[in-house]
Amino acid sequence: MERKVVIAGNWKMNKDAAAGRELVESLKPLVAGFTDADVVVCPPFTTLSAVVAAAAGSNIKVGAQNVHWAESGAFTGEISAEMLVSSGVEYVIIGHSERRQYFGETDATVNSRLKAALKAGLKPIVCVGETLAEREGNKTNEVIGRQLRDGLAGLTAADMANVIIAYEPVWAIGTGKTATPAIAEETHKFIRETVGALFGAATASALRIQYGGSMKPENARELVAQADIDGGLIGGAALKADSFAKLISEALGR
Ligand code: PGA
Repeated sequence: MERKVVIAGNWKMNKDAAAGRELVESLKPLVAGFTDADVVVCPPFTTLSAVVAAAAGSNIKVGAQNVHWAESGAFTGEISAEMLVSSGVEYVIIGHSERRQYFGETDATVNSRLKAALKAGLKPIVCVGETLAEREGNKTNEVIGRQLRDGLAGLTAADMANVIIAYEPVWAIGTGKTATPAIAEETHKFIRETVGALFGAATASALRIQYGGSMKPENARELVAQADIDGGLIGGAALKADSFAKLISEALGR
């Protein structure tokens, strides 16, 4: 099964509108040739419009970092899926470990956000991953199995065609400690098998699974060369045009 590589930059709480526009302007010529990948940038909410405008007409797609589950209403501080769509946003990261760790995100809220995103026509990037204590306690598959079962509950195989899963071991995020390609592949394979058990073999074989956690130009090639690794969700290395472009080129084996 040929799956199109998908590389997404998670800018986290970095870059105002001017800095975001500048990064996208620098990135455009560098990634124009990467038509065999989906190239996505995910800026903070207030930078989205500037980045959507800057990316117009290029092969750079835009994603948000969170979405609320309601369509509108009394939810001070929140942003709905419809608002994102009407701002020109196509993708959305859901359930990043930083949201789980600092903002009370659970598999149930991930599930609610995911359903709202799909209903509005967004392409969700659903994050799963174990902490160091969970890995050392041999709980990795148990934790990720639960995140997938509960996070994806109630979805159909047709929904899953629009979903990307990002495997981000919490111990590898922003720490410089990348999972070795073999360790990452083992968990990616488990994710694909779990999705297969839930939604069927065809859905599992079409599913794109990104690796995230200290992915950089130096390790992207070997990671994406693994059978079940179909791209990356990139934090630090996505904040500069040259490193992000180089990472994509490595991931594509160029
Ligand atoms: P990192 O972040 O590449 O800086 O480790 C990845 C992420 O949290 O999505």
